Amino acid sequence: MADYKITLLKGDGIGPEIVDQAVKVLDKAADKFGFTVEYDEALLGGCAIDATGVPLPDETVAKCKASDSVILGAVGGPKWDDQPGNNRPEAGLLGIRGALGLFANLRPSVIFGPLKSASPIKDEIIGDNMDIMIVRELTGGIYFGERGKSDDAAWDTEKYSVAEIERIARVAFDMAMKRNKKLTSVDKANVLESSRLWRKTVIEVSKDYPEVELNHMYVDNCAMQLVRNPKQFDVIVTSNIFGDILSDEASMIAGSIGMLASASLSGGKLGLYEPIHGSAPDIAGLGIANPLATILSVAMMLRYSLNQPEAAVAIENAVAKVLVENRTPDIFEEGLNKVTCSEMGDLVCQAL
Ligand code: IPM
Ligand code: MG
Repeated sequence: MADYKITLLKGDGIGPEIVDQAVKVLDKAADKFGFTVEYDEALLGGCAIDATGVPLPDETVAKCKASDSVILGAVGGPKWDDQPGNNRPEAGLLGIRGALGLFANLRPSVIFGPLKSASPIKDEIIGDNMDIMIVRELTGGIYFGERGKSDDAAWDTEKYSVAEIERIARVAFDMAMKRNKKLTSVDKANVLESSRLWRKTVIEVSKDYPEVELNHMYVDNCAMQLVRNPKQFDVIVTSNIFGDILSDEASMIAGSIGMLASASLSGGKLGLYEPIHGSAPDIAGLGIANPLATILSVAMMLRYSLNQPEAAVAIENAVAKVLVENRTPDIFEEGLNKVTCSEMGDLVCQAL
């Protein structure tokens, strides 16, 4: 029996090509660091709708639950735009997050040295080592609240319980303790009742973390501060929808959405690891997608779920090294080697 059993949810669009590269790199890391991995594939998103009629078949949930962790490519595409809301590929993604209890979404925004020039923000504003960790609540709030529609109206509800806020706050405080001990909690407590409870609960939890410097910021101000002075942030904790929006913004500050990884964690070891970008149907199958966000998600998996921190660091270093001279088209700069998705995977393996 292999040391780790990993379920692959390749998904739609560029999902399969990028996950294939991540598997290559994980196999190489396994060789080098002396562990074994066994894979199983399951359907999620549009490909699952095509094959079974629903975006999240029961079999997929069962396979994920029986594994040590899950690697996800991306889901969605114009082909499924006419599906009713609860049968869209995206509903499959929300469904798997809920079914596996993945309430904590870690979205690091870091600049890889050689990519600094890809950021639309001025050099002096970014500084030399921008490194923000967004901790997004992932199984509550308006994404999962009561929704409905009548003939001339539609509604979604933002609702958080104290228990939901407490557990995500603890993840964020624990993360801050391992980093620079600075936590910004983002809400809209000047308007929303749910945000006032959020703020009150985060303050309660902070009593257990006297070393962490906590501040609170309204989400509109945070959106502005992220481009005005990103260096002020270390860990940010926020609700599902605010985290969705702010993490896209933070990823662009770091240069390319094609570079950023994410981890979705439950209380236990099982996690789901995916790039934060989408399925990019316009370039699917052309072999030009950037696989690095998925490869870096494998590094996060090794760190947070499989307890192989050395392999995680080795992959991150290999990516940094390869980027000095090699780029996929999305981050290409004149004078460097332009490489395909699969060549990028091979290069990271070689550097490992
Ligand atoms: C993300 C995505 C998803 C979300 C979509 C595809 C449902 O934007 O992971 O950030 O909104 O959570
Ligand atoms: Mg998003």
